[in-house]
Amino acid sequence: MRSHYCGELNASNISQEITLCGWVHRRRDHGGVIFLDVRDREGITQVVFDPDRADSFALADSVRNEYVIKLTGLVRARPEGTINPNMRTGEIEVLGTSLEILNAAQTPPFQLDEHQAVGEDIRLKNRFIDLRRPEIQQKMRFRSKVTSVLRRYLDDNGFLDIETPILTRATPEGARDYLVPSRTQQGSFFALPQSPQLFKQLLMVSGFDRYYQIAKCFRDEDLRADRQPEFTQVDIETSFMSEEQIIAMTEEMITNLFKELMNIDLGTFPRMPYSEAMESYGSDKPDLRIPLTLVTVSDLMADVDFKVFSGPATDPKGRVAALKVPGGNSLTRKQIDDYTKFVGIYGAKGLAYIKVNDKSNLEEGLQSPIVKFLPVEVRGALLERLEAQDGDLIFFGADSAKIVNEALGALRCKLGEDMDLYTCEWAPLWVVDFPMFEETSDGGITAIHHPFTAPSCSPEDLKANPLTALSQAYDMVLNGTELGGGSIRIHQASMQEAVFELLNISEEEQEEKFGFLLDALKFGAPPHGGLAFGLDRLVMLMTGSSSIRDVIAFPKTQSATCLLTQAPGEVSEKQLKELSIRVRKPVAE
Ligand code: AMO
Ligand code: AMP
Repeated sequence: MRSHYCGELNASNISQEITLCGWVHRRRDHGGVIFLDVRDREGITQVVFDPDRADSFALADSVRNEYVIKLTGLVRARPEGTINPNMRTGEIEVLGTSLEILNAAQTPPFQLDEHQAVGEDIRLKNRFIDLRRPEIQQKMRFRSKVTSVLRRYLDDNGFLDIETPILTRATPEGARDYLVPSRTQQGSFFALPQSPQLFKQLLMVSGFDRYYQIAKCFRDEDLRADRQPEFTQVDIETSFMSEEQIIAMTEEMITNLFKELMNIDLGTFPRMPYSEAMESYGSDKPDLRIPLTLVTVSDLMADVDFKVFSGPATDPKGRVAALKVPGGNSLTRKQIDDYTKFVGIYGAKGLAYIKVNDKSNLEEGLQSPIVKFLPVEVRGALLERLEAQDGDLIFFGADSAKIVNEALGALRCKLGEDMDLYTCEWAPLWVVDFPMFEETSDGGITAIHHPFTAPSCSPEDLKANPLTALSQAYDMVLNGTELGGGSIRIHQASMQEAVFELLNISEEEQEEKFGFLLDALKFGAPPHGGLAFGLDRLVMLMTGSSSIRDVIAFPKTQSATCLLTQAPGEVSEKQLKELSIRVRKPVAE
């Protein structure tokens, strides 16, 4: 229908007759001349209609924003003084000779260039219009480039793209499953995959050696800015490769991607053991752009006359940690109160602090609500350990190690943002040497990665010391976001059974839920391992988006609904009957 995209015209097309198809971005009436800005996915061209062509002039006069039109015209240079250097087509305009309205449009619910003032709810409800905005079109195009570059890398390295089922059994990754009732097996349910984990392992047992898939995953979990109930992984599995080799290859894949699409050199990624990440950053995904670190001071606080500190300091599961903010002395009382409220979100019961006014005067030079509880020797030792200088402020967290890490870890990131402490733009790293398990609140244990991850020790040692055993798992972290994670897998049935046993999964349950995996491990399973990247998160970071929803064409809200289609929705009595399902509506509270 057309000869060119709107966005591709430039001075080289001057004097050509062209045909464009697109949307009316804006219509302006300039004293007898009508200007239409016509838009398609490549950009905008200005088209002028003169009254001397009465037919097309009248039509141009009648169109409104977002009408779909087709026009023919002559490309000409814009008159002196009207050239727009900010527009790709800013040197030219088209003198319209004929115009056809392909489809009218109602007044859109919001103007495309004023989206800032429009709430996200309205944008998501009318996503087909929202997606016309150039900013979001750019992001979708960038996303397409990312998958294309990643596919090329994986194809070039011998990976096979193999699809795995969506209707399946539970694939545990720590979230709730989305269930689909079966009509042919009434009372039974499929689960949507939380990841292709088990299938990709089976593909290794089948000898495919290198697999990848751009895979949809489904997890019914609490949503945040970087989580969606339905998201996409770049999912990878390999046979006969060591942890080191898998890390090196996927690091190269990501550094190549940044180089090719953004001309950014991420350098060689540092490696950090999980224990150090928790100790120094209070997080297993430290944001290394921020130079602040947590320092344990439990030993210094064990005997002080302040229960809030001495309690956790002497409790094996407790921790007292300090976070020094260079120059933080200038924080006001109000700011400190706000930070105290902030750490409260993570369960911290307070946020003690010391302002270092004059470190040479341990009696009077420290300003703090708690310094009176600290003997002078402790004050001195503390300042020395933290290498504190005059003008610094030191925050403290005292509680269970879990609460202290979460609270001070989050505070560290918040201070980094509020005080703009970033030392670089991109800070990637690998977090390695994760523990196999962690304790749950009810005293049980749960796998930190997933139950198919291989430990770094024998089954006997694992059973003897489950909570201190390390795993062969690794996470790629970028700017405080977990981009991807993976592990070397268990490839021997005896080890897999040992892990299931430790996780308190009975033999019957093992057989029922994972019998096929245990069988596969007994029929020639090669050593294998892999990882999966969160594609949405990767694109979110690369495009500098603040929400994962901005890089997904049709995202869901924080409450896991789709405002556009109104999913999830009710279904008919007939459908329910076919499934033998009776819905018991929750009783309103
Ligand atoms: P994991 O659960 O760590 O590992 O997931 C891998 C990556 O997927 C992304 N991700 C998400 N992105 C958006 N919304 C979510 N709800 C969400 N959940 C996870 C993250 C994460 O790093 N099967 C293993 C991988 C493996 O071992 O090979 C797995 O799924 O970026
Ligand atoms: P209080 O004795 O409750 O008045 O607390 C004295 C100071 O210690 C205040 O600055 C509190 O914010 C702080 N504080 C109280 N509990 C904790 C805690 N668990 N960790 C760190 N600081 C705390």
